[in-house]
Amino acid sequence: MNILVTGGLGFIGSHTVVSLYERGHQAVIIDDYSNASKEVLEKLETLIQSKIPFIEGNVTDSKLVENIFKNHQIDGVLHFAAFKAVGESVEKPIMYYENNLNATLTVAKLALEHKVKKFVFSSSCTVYGDQPSPFHEEMDLLPATNPYGATKQMSEQILKDISFAHPEFKVTLLRYFNPIGAHDSGLIGESPLGVPNNLMPYILDVALGKRPHLNVYGSDYPTLDGSGVRDYIHVMDLAEAHVAALEKSLKPVNIYNVGTGQGSSVLEVVKAFETMNDVKIPLNITARRPGDIAVSFADPAKIKNELGYQTKRDLNQMVKDAWNFAKRSNHA
Ligand code: UFG
Repeated sequence: MNILVTGGLGFIGSHTVVSLYERGHQAVIIDDYSNASKEVLEKLETLIQSKIPFIEGNVTDSKLVENIFKNHQIDGVLHFAAFKAVGESVEKPIMYYENNLNATLTVAKLALEHKVKKFVFSSSCTVYGDQPSPFHEEMDLLPATNPYGATKQMSEQILKDISFAHPEFKVTLLRYFNPIGAHDSGLIGESPLGVPNNLMPYILDVALGKRPHLNVYGSDYPTLDGSGVRDYIHVMDLAEAHVAALEKSLKPVNIYNVGTGQGSSVLEVVKAFETMNDVKIPLNITARRPGDIAVSFADPAKIKNELGYQTKRDLNQMVKDAWNFAKRSNHA
């Protein structure tokens, strides 16, 4: 299949492009470099040993996206392109609603007009809100606590409604848990601009000596060691879920959690990182971060039963691959 990958130079998008080629598919990438560096395309082409058609621009530009559908035979869309910083979304709600919702509307509308039958959307476990884990797909969604989460819920609804009206337009909503790690080549990985918001990029900065310590947000959660628990998933496992969804999903609307089903605390992630990589991560145990929940992990049964998909890589592999990428890209 020839797949349009929006946001294909970002962390999850770029790894998914590798998975597509590994499974014999091809990609056309559109990305506006808003959270990706220019070198990623070159690195992807080195990894897959082939040129990848690339369009620079924002997916809310309907003329630009229309031309992509006109100029390429597209069999499916993987729609990653979106803003994703929770705190920033609280400060700049208009920017988040405008970009993320228009992106979904524009790409879905043009995909439908060009008779594309498969559309996979990057959703998030954040849509479940603060309720007890494991999260499963049939749970009611609680109101989002920030505009970022709201754009994920609204985009899910938009896509469900489109598929309801046009059942030939098969929509898959993938609710990601916490992707970390990197491709084992160390060529691509996660390198956010500025101070990292998320746990693993922050750990990597500390390991590289760019920051003195990791702030651990909360030591009084009702968890094993008091720190927050998340379902960390290797980004290559997450990438492979997209390919499974494209190859196998057949109902008009398919909703799947993509996680391992295993929760790990912040302190457990740090321990695994230190042990696997022989690097010390100094800690500063501090107050809870506003908006965080105590525990979040997936019930991964549905995607296994319906698509035969299962994660393969454990936490040790995730922390090892993350460090391998950080060292290579920072020449540490
Ligand atoms: N954490 C720290 N110190 C840090 C960063 C994080 O202790 O410097 C803790 C958090 O408190 C949390 C865990 O590490 O317990 C994971 O935090 P992340 O920020 O890595 O990820 P979240 O679980 O907060 O994920 C949220 C949303 C996702 C969204 C993601 C993107 O739930 O939907 O942020 O920013 F995609």
